[in-house]
Amino acid sequence: MVTPEARSTTAAGGLELGGCEAGALVARYGTPLYVFDEGLIREKCRAYRAAFESRYPQVDVAYAGKAFLCLAMARLVAEEGLHLDVASAGELHTAVTAGVPPARLVMHGNNKSPVELAMALDSGVGRIVVDNLPELGLLGGLVARRPGRRPQEILIRVAPGVDPHTHRRIRTGQGDTKFGLSLAAGQAMEAVLQAVGTPHLLFTGLHAHVGSNLRDARAQVQALETILDFAVQVREETGLTLENLNLGGGLGIRYLPRDEIMPLEDFAEAITTALLEGLARRHLPLPRLMLEPGRAIVGEAGVTLYSVGTVKEVPIDEPPGTRLYAAIDGGMSDNPRPQLYDAAYTAFLANRLGEPADTEVRVAGKHCETDILIQSVALPRPRAGDILAVPSTGAYTYSMASNYNRFPRPAAVFVGNGQARLVVRRETLDDIIRQDVLAPAES
Ligand code: LLP
Repeated sequence: MVTPEARSTTAAGGLELGGCEAGALVARYGTPLYVFDEGLIREKCRAYRAAFESRYPQVDVAYAGKAFLCLAMARLVAEEGLHLDVASAGELHTAVTAGVPPARLVMHGNNKSPVELAMALDSGVGRIVVDNLPELGLLGGLVARRPGRRPQEILIRVAPGVDPHTHRRIRTGQGDTKFGLSLAAGQAMEAVLQAVGTPHLLFTGLHAHVGSNLRDARAQVQALETILDFAVQVREETGLTLENLNLGGGLGIRYLPRDEIMPLEDFAEAITTALLEGLARRHLPLPRLMLEPGRAIVGEAGVTLYSVGTVKEVPIDEPPGTRLYAAIDGGMSDNPRPQLYDAAYTAFLANRLGEPADTEVRVAGKHCETDILIQSVALPRPRAGDILAVPSTGAYTYSMASNYNRFPRPAAVFVGNGQARLVVRRETLDDIIRQDVLAPAES
């Protein structure tokens, strides 16, 4: 078990991860390695469900697969009774192949292709969240061409015009956004009316996701007010009341010891209280509350293990005159978040837990760019061969990994009760050239 400030050790003094020793995992699977504490993921799934189910009568929690998805993860969330949010043909294919009941799938995307929509219909996804008017038309046409099929349940994604005060690249609820339909400009109402008038489409509610890695529930609560006002207008215009209200994901996690994130129970309390009061004030019946956490389920359960290679002292202009760089055997290809969002992480040396962290180190990746994983962290003076462990790397790391510089993507393992199981194989050098074609031009 690892948090940004605490870690447990094995009897032999090594880093303990799900009852396994980090050094043994490295010996078996190599580095870089994504290690997930399976018990902790399951705990988070249960805690999320319990926090909302204990406060509100009808709740569906869907895990947002974009945070981390593979067959084993899809199966795990289904076993925990969660639904699954998929946002592409690839995520849908993964979910269906893993055996997730299709009724429990929620299909997302701001630019779903006809092929993706047809796939969603053919695999029987429970709900499609419609992002825009052209999609509504397209979907209506596809459903009409499947006579005898049950009506497709849809939610309309709205842009509530809320600024969630998170990193600019992960804000989605504001007005100027590529996601959803504007409430203020009337596009959302136009979509609702069109949906209600489309045979074989069953409009059952609204969706809004305001942003990611949020410290508290303020943005969701603010969005809720706007959405409930809209629900009143929908009732006036169509006579329909919401069966479903999907508030997306967004609860942040702790990356650094100083990070303060609202506890899940308080987050659930704030949202359900605002919802119950907001509904009562408007004399609206209770919809089913749907949530889509990604990061909060899987982020803190993941630790990335790297091997330290080159360690070098670099002269710099400011005091103390030198900087110690330690390069690891990965970088922006396995975790692009520092480059994309200035994400900050902490780290420690898994093989030297007892030693004082008395040296300030800059941790660099090994790509042909200045891919700094951590600007500054205190470690025992690192040496080649050390194992660097980076906590809170379960979300948006493997799922955003690339083959930049033709690096094979790392393996991922689930650990628990002293056992490890491989859930994603490490790519090989042959995988790197697998899709390459050396052939004469086709005429
Ligand atoms: N539902 C929808 C419709 C979403 O777009 C997202 C995230 C979620 C749920 C899950 O949000 P979460 O609970 O994980 O905050 N790559 C970025 C995060 C992008 C989030 C995109 N949408 C990062 O690494 O911070």
